[in-house]
Amino acid sequence: MNSWIAPSILAADFARLGAEVDDVVAAGADLVHFDVMDNHYVPNLSVGPLVLESLRRHGVAVPVDVHLMVEPVDRLIDDFLAAGADYISVHPEATGHPHRSLSLIREGGAKAGVVLNPGTAVAVVEPLIDVVDLVLVMSVNPGFGGQAFIPSSLDKVAAVRRLIDASGRAIRLEIDGGIKVDNIGAAARAGADTFVAGSAVFGVPETHASRADDYRAVLDAMREQV
Ligand code: DX5
Ligand code: ZN
Repeated sequence: MNSWIAPSILAADFARLGAEVDDVVAAGADLVHFDVMDNHYVPNLSVGPLVLESLRRHGVAVPVDVHLMVEPVDRLIDDFLAAGADYISVHPEATGHPHRSLSLIREGGAKAGVVLNPGTAVAVVEPLIDVVDLVLVMSVNPGFGGQAFIPSSLDKVAAVRRLIDASGRAIRLEIDGGIKVDNIGAAARAGADTFVAGSAVFGVPETHASRADDYRAVLDAMREQV
């Protein structure tokens, strides 16, 4: 499976979000990671389906990877399907019936992802393996950008990689949290193929003629490592 880099808009300048996404796509982003936080499942509040709808209307055409950190989950799945999500990922702890939530996503025509927190066992994925298109391993506790990478996440990625390979299904393995140029290579070697990066991309200092050039420099450096 080819490697994808997914800049997380959580670290973007929300006052000029459309331009930020245009710039990061021009810089080579494969998909856009869209973090949804509800101040209930996680202690932070971010954006909802209206913002995704606006980005689509603005002309954003790349796949959008919605990471739902909300509880309950199911009603918002419909809203994000309607808003144009390509991937929708859910935390099994946040839904009474993870198998149902994942099935709702797929029946709605999107790809379904299950998310493992640092404190969640890999075994949670096993009974869901037939209804997932993506497994997202959190390498920080969910809720905030800019946190430090948890090194034991690499062992978890390797364990999920074995599970995916044994299933024989084409399931993407994504890692999210604290990914930078200096650790993305290790994440790739552990078996990840999809890499979320928020602060490492949007937080890069302005050193080029344009923000797109700034972002391209980071994305190219990351790609070189994977
Ligand atoms: C954290 C979010 C991440 C976050 C990553 O709850 O799920 O996607 O935006 O940000 P960085 O790359 O700064 O850790
Ligand atoms: Zn995320």
